[in-house]
Amino acid sequence: MSIIDGVKAKARACVKTIVLPEGDEKRTVRAAAIIRDEGIARPVLLGNTQSIRRAAEENGADISGISGVDPETSPELRRYADALYELRKNKGVTPEEALKLARDPMYYGIMMVKLGDADGLVSGAVHTTGDMLRPALQLIKTKPGIKVVSSSFLMELPNPNIGWNGLLVYSDCVVMPCPTAEELASIAVCAAETARTLCGIEEPRMALLSFSTKGSAKHELVSKVQQAVTIAHELAPELTLDGEMQFDAAIIPEIGASKAKGSPVAGRANVLIFPDLQAGNIGYKITERLGGAKACAVLQGLAKPCNDLSRGCSVDDIVTTVALTAVQAQNA
Ligand code: ACO
Repeated sequence: MSIIDGVKAKARACVKTIVLPEGDEKRTVRAAAIIRDEGIARPVLLGNTQSIRRAAEENGADISGISGVDPETSPELRRYADALYELRKNKGVTPEEALKLARDPMYYGIMMVKLGDADGLVSGAVHTTGDMLRPALQLIKTKPGIKVVSSSFLMELPNPNIGWNGLLVYSDCVVMPCPTAEELASIAVCAAETARTLCGIEEPRMALLSFSTKGSAKHELVSKVQQAVTIAHELAPELTLDGEMQFDAAIIPEIGASKAKGSPVAGRANVLIFPDLQAGNIGYKITERLGGAKACAVLQGLAKPCNDLSRGCSVDDIVTTVALTAVQAQNA
């Protein structure tokens, strides 16, 4: 069974409500029908009722039985606006601004999740990553004890001998442009949880990547990764985690054995922590485009699950991301 089929099966076992703020978007209506038919989640489409209906008709999607909510006319609008105001008044948001924000399906959807009227949210077929992330960061906030929100990419490789039966978890490739050592350590702790809960990797073997392996180069960027390793060991002593190490030392057994002798991770890593967003984002795209990997992403560290899509996403990508979000909601 592929990792995604496994995730869908888990999602079906305890069905969650997932809100889709881009409810009148053509791929989203088609995905919602599949999600309902396959029992992956209870989708809620947000947007103008007529626009949602038109998008469904024009794209051959039967959305009967799927909840649709128009924030503009919703009886919950005032409650969400008041709660949003309470959450953001210390940031200068006025009651009028809160009402205006709550009318926006992106913010309305986030408030549904915040107040427990939905278990998770998936958006980004239309919105940019930043526009999707900002309301989640401002309102949902991080889980207790977690410093920053970040992401993990689940990379399914054609070679089953690499990582965990051909699966590698890459983190962070979406959110934190320039993490500090403390933030890198926090990203590593979250990636371990993602590896366990979404991929079923019982023993995540975590490598903190660098252009240096075990002191082979001296540079402030290398020192930052070394510090992150120390902090991550303090935060989660039970984790099998090592670094700093180069990519090849992390995943190729012979190179790991020669460059990082005795490491519990080198040559056998299944979770790779990139030192910054440039490395992580470029790394996942190279793996996908040149390495033939299938990639799907989740955000991690949020108190409740909200996930971003690529604007080039397919209907299948939306279905998969909803399934991942539903499983995260089961573990939230
Ligand atoms: N974790 C937790 N909270 C955060 C984080 C984080 N990683 N980043 C920002 N915040 C909080 C801030 O503390 C702030 O909270 P407050 O308003 O309550 O004080 C709030 O979020 C907004 O912070 P800003 O700094 O104003 O937000 P900013 O405009 O910098 O946006 C963002 C944050 C969107 C995450 C930014 O860092 C970003 O654009 N990251 C890159 C996204 C991207 O383009 N990724 C690559 C493309 S995706 C792909 O290729 C798959």
